[in-house]
Amino acid sequence: MTERAGPTTPDAISTAVEASFDRCGDPRLREIMEALIRHLHGFVLEVGLSEEEWRRAVDVLTRTGHLTDDQRQEWILWSDALGVSMLVDAIGHPTPPGATESTVLGPFHVPGAPLREYGARLDEMGAGVPVWVHGTVRSLDGTALEGAELDVWQNGDNQLYAVQDPDAPDDHLRGRFRTRADGSYGFVAVRPTPYPIPHDGPVGEMLEATGRHPWRPAHIHMIVRAPGHRALTTHLFDADSEYLDSDAVFAVKPSLIRRLERRAADDPRRPAGIEEPWLLLEADFVLAPGDGGEPVDPGRTA
Ligand code: BEZ
Ligand code: FE
Repeated sequence: MTERAGPTTPDAISTAVEASFDRCGDPRLREIMEALIRHLHGFVLEVGLSEEEWRRAVDVLTRTGHLTDDQRQEWILWSDALGVSMLVDAIGHPTPPGATESTVLGPFHVPGAPLREYGARLDEMGAGVPVWVHGTVRSLDGTALEGAELDVWQNGDNQLYAVQDPDAPDDHLRGRFRTRADGSYGFVAVRPTPYPIPHDGPVGEMLEATGRHPWRPAHIHMIVRAPGHRALTTHLFDADSEYLDSDAVFAVKPSLIRRLERRAADDPRRPAGIEEPWLLLEADFVLAPGDGGEPVDPGRTA
């Protein structure tokens, strides 16, 4: 009688599992599953994973699933905190020389922000020192892009984004702006504040257990879109912020760091209605050609 016993040595187990995808009809799925098994089994063997460690890992994965819903995405937080989001971004969006670099989206973007006029304020209830943010949006060949959209969101001096803050109006510290005929845009933000990524769940436990901190340096988020161009998801980082060299989600790129300059009351660039002290942030965006730049929805006005 023929022996029908399954594989028993570590090598034989890994070979048998990898071979189980031989008949997968989708070549890309087959490539992904085979590589996943090679790396996953290689990882288990490399660290000599014990049954107790595997039980704890399953517990972490279970709690991550239970915590995740429409409001809280603990899986993406793992991806961010382990640098996978930045890696996927780096291989998916290699930036052509001269184009503005991208970085993570993060969990606090809410689609459908109100359209605001050139020069309008982002805050709806006062949230810190005003910053006049302005510049141009251009194509890689230098053409000014009229009608490009900047979808902007940020936190204020209480560290919270509007979606996290039960006391804030829904549209506080967020808005969409369109560039003028010469590609210029301008809006009044507030100085953003460093803040911790959500750390009351499994990701926070990992950060604590490994001696890492949950903080992100101060930044303003934006998605910049123009037809015929690749949508750009990026941040502007405050050059004077803490944590620029230890961002919990590895998202700082030197080209995205800007100094927020303190300006005098009689500076001719002071926007109307802005109290002192105020700050100036100049930032131009250069979009790479491609798809995905059409505005997502016509939107409402503020
Ligand atoms: C954010 O910048 O909003 C963010 C990004 C990744 C994880 C948590 C927050
Ligand atoms: Fe953020």
